[in-house]
Amino acid sequence: MVKTVKTSVCIIGSGPGGLLLSQLLSNEGIDTVLIDRRDQVHIEGRIRAGVLEQGTVEALQEAGVADRLNREGLQHYGFELAFDGDRHRIDLRALTGKPVTVYGQTEVTKDLFSRRHAQGQQFFFNAQNVQPENLLSTKPSVSFLIDGQALRVTCDYVAGCDGFQGVSRRSIPADVLKTFERVYPFGWLGILVDRPPVSEELIYANHARGFALASMRSETRSRYYVQCGADDRPGDWSDDRFWEEFEIRLGPDAARGLQTGPSFEKSIALLRSFVAEPMRYGNLFLAGDAAHIVPPTGAKGLNLAVADVRILSRALTEHYRTGNDHWIDTYSETVLKRVWKVERFSWQLSTLMHQFPQNSEFEKRMQRAEFDYLCSSEAASRTIAENYVGLPLE
Ligand code: FAD
Ligand code: DHB
Repeated sequence: MVKTVKTSVCIIGSGPGGLLLSQLLSNEGIDTVLIDRRDQVHIEGRIRAGVLEQGTVEALQEAGVADRLNREGLQHYGFELAFDGDRHRIDLRALTGKPVTVYGQTEVTKDLFSRRHAQGQQFFFNAQNVQPENLLSTKPSVSFLIDGQALRVTCDYVAGCDGFQGVSRRSIPADVLKTFERVYPFGWLGILVDRPPVSEELIYANHARGFALASMRSETRSRYYVQCGADDRPGDWSDDRFWEEFEIRLGPDAARGLQTGPSFEKSIALLRSFVAEPMRYGNLFLAGDAAHIVPPTGAKGLNLAVADVRILSRALTEHYRTGNDHWIDTYSETVLKRVWKVERFSWQLSTLMHQFPQNSEFEKRMQRAEFDYLCSSEAASRTIAENYVGLPLE
């Protein structure tokens, strides 16, 4: 016997994208159901992004979930690029007038969960065999199993916010979906450590031994990364090995005062650029990592997911308020235009800041020349700055 639940918008995926979409729709009186294949503890524990664009902060504020972000988020008006120990500051205040805010994805997710529960949101966690159905009809549905019990959510629209590995994108027929992909031949090994950050601002470093990034979560907790092999395992990297590499790659100047200590989280993320088109199929909409992946170098993944769901919530709200489907009909086109610009920036910064095994001496000199040009050209620095703080929504 299949248990059936009715809602307006069935959201697959309870990551930051799905949670924010349900919050924005709920604020407009639109009913949603959230389905995830994992549970809340697992979702909240995933250590991922750390830098929020001003537009993302404003979206969380407008959604009414930013009390703690406003108190605890660290505003940064600049960051540094380093090349073989030489340093160049991108002055976000002078170049754009805007900051970015350091606040972990884990915290964004916790704040959203807390608000959704307080407002009585219906969640289905640990859902198996999640399957969107009848997407071309006016009554699509999503069926799944929980503890062996079959359930079906019937709805007007399905929002696929289920990340890169999710089922939503794969529900679009192969002859409709076009994908674009670039896989980078390395990964990022990230650690968390309860030591004050080595620098007040983030430092992205390219060094002959590979990329390194000094980031943070608070004034007492640092998040540091090094470029590693695509096949490396976290166990290949003892803390001692990590600290030795990290210090060399930052360079003696930037690493001065580095406080090392035992890491309490260590994980590897592979780098990929990926876009799926279109982002709508019938009454299914894709948003966030379900439709696109950027390499993490520009800190764009989470911000892009937030931008998508802002545009999607506007489209759905307009439909329910006025019956006007203009924004629904233009959703994919509108979002993809911005997505490609952000893909371009993330690819460009990744290409500049990493050691590529296949790079010839010519390409290495091109990287250095680009860094030197950035150091000498306000126009070039401004290009980086305006992308880093976030492009406007279309
Ligand atoms: P997700 O956060 O992936 O959420 C998708 C949700 O869908 C998950 O909860 C998942 O359990 C659920 N789901 C998946 N499949 C199914 C299914 N079949 N049925 C139901 N539910 C399903 N970005 C940065 O900017 N900086 C970083 O340092 C950074 N590091 C990252 C490290 C890793 C390992 C990864 C994977 C990503 C990282 N990102 C980073 C990217 C950023 O975290 C993502 O862009 C962001 O999480 C996207 O949010 P989302 O809601 O679209 O997807
Ligand atoms: C962090 C991650 C990024 O990808 C980035 O560009 C900046 C910061 C972080 O995890 O803190």
